[in-house]
Amino acid sequence: MYKIVSIPGDGIGPEVVAGALAVMNRLAEKHGFTIAIEEHPFGGASYDLHGEMLTEATLEACRNCDAVLLGAVGGPKWESLPHEHKPEAALLKIRRELGLFANLRPAKVYDALIDASSLKADVVGGTDFVVFRELTGGIYFGQPRGYDENKGWNTMVYERYEVERIARIAFEAAQKRGGRVTSIDKANVLEVSQLWRNVVHEVHRDFPEIELSDMYVDNAAMQIVRNPKQFDVIVTGNLFGDILSDIAGMITGSLGMLPSASIGKSHALYEPIHGSAPDIAGQNKANPIATIASVAMMFEHSFCMPDVANEIYQAIETTLAEGLRTADIANAGQSAVSTTEMTAAIVKNLGQ
Ligand code: IPM
Ligand code: MN
Repeated sequence: MYKIVSIPGDGIGPEVVAGALAVMNRLAEKHGFTIAIEEHPFGGASYDLHGEMLTEATLEACRNCDAVLLGAVGGPKWESLPHEHKPEAALLKIRRELGLFANLRPAKVYDALIDASSLKADVVGGTDFVVFRELTGGIYFGQPRGYDENKGWNTMVYERYEVERIARIAFEAAQKRGGRVTSIDKANVLEVSQLWRNVVHEVHRDFPEIELSDMYVDNAAMQIVRNPKQFDVIVTGNLFGDILSDIAGMITGSLGMLPSASIGKSHALYEPIHGSAPDIAGQNKANPIATIASVAMMFEHSFCMPDVANEIYQAIETTLAEGLRTADIANAGQSAVSTTEMTAAIVKNLGQ
């Protein structure tokens, strides 16, 4: 039995999570395994109920389950709260508390959606890489930090063990993919990047069959747009990964399609890359595919069932090939289906 904590969150979160749970339930039925789903509040939904974005009860439930499925958090209603009460702070806290040090963000172009990219089809077609972003260190968490009237400061710091563990799982992922890792840093300027680079190269000694290259982050931003097909696995720090994974997401032209996994030693959390989209919340318009694909990542990484993960990816491909599009991925003049229609089609395409 798998114990899953579902955190629908705010905005379109509950709608897309409902779609993902429908897929999960269908697969449990099809393959005869049991899943127990426990729902907990997080973000604005939690703030309205308990005066806190992340309660100890939600955190405790996340510590005691096999995987967490998160929708999205935040919205205009909670934007003016003080910094420490903002949904962003709660997100950082849940990552840190669960030790989710590796954030995996695949950038894969679906053939059916090549035209949705703002880049030329021959540039993006066939793009398939994954960003391993370090998620619990770097400038997001470094001390000292603060600001006063005349000065603001943060600290970018990495410890050897933090670089080692993210490098290791990036190399392991490359073994199962195209065998290439690009480590992205700013070693021409930052000492913290020099340590990063040294440690990545040390870990590389355990993976001699993997081709490792280094790239400066400014060049990487350019290369991702110039020729995204050159990448297989990218490994980088927290801030660089935040920026590069948005660039990577956008070249695929379909933010509503992209899943993510945040993985630690003993916990894992899966969520779509997109936000809570308050402008379309509650209208049954949101694209559930990113959250459904996040469930595929859950089957792959938390439950070691890559075949089941592939069934999900296949069902998504088939549904797109049938021409179904939610509003975010519909071409001009094409009629869009709703969240629940898209979900039902994917569930149907999972077969009996
Ligand atoms: C992300 C987001 C978060 C981050 C924010 C909301 C704290 O941009 O998940 O990429 O910067 O990590
Ligand atoms: Mn981001």
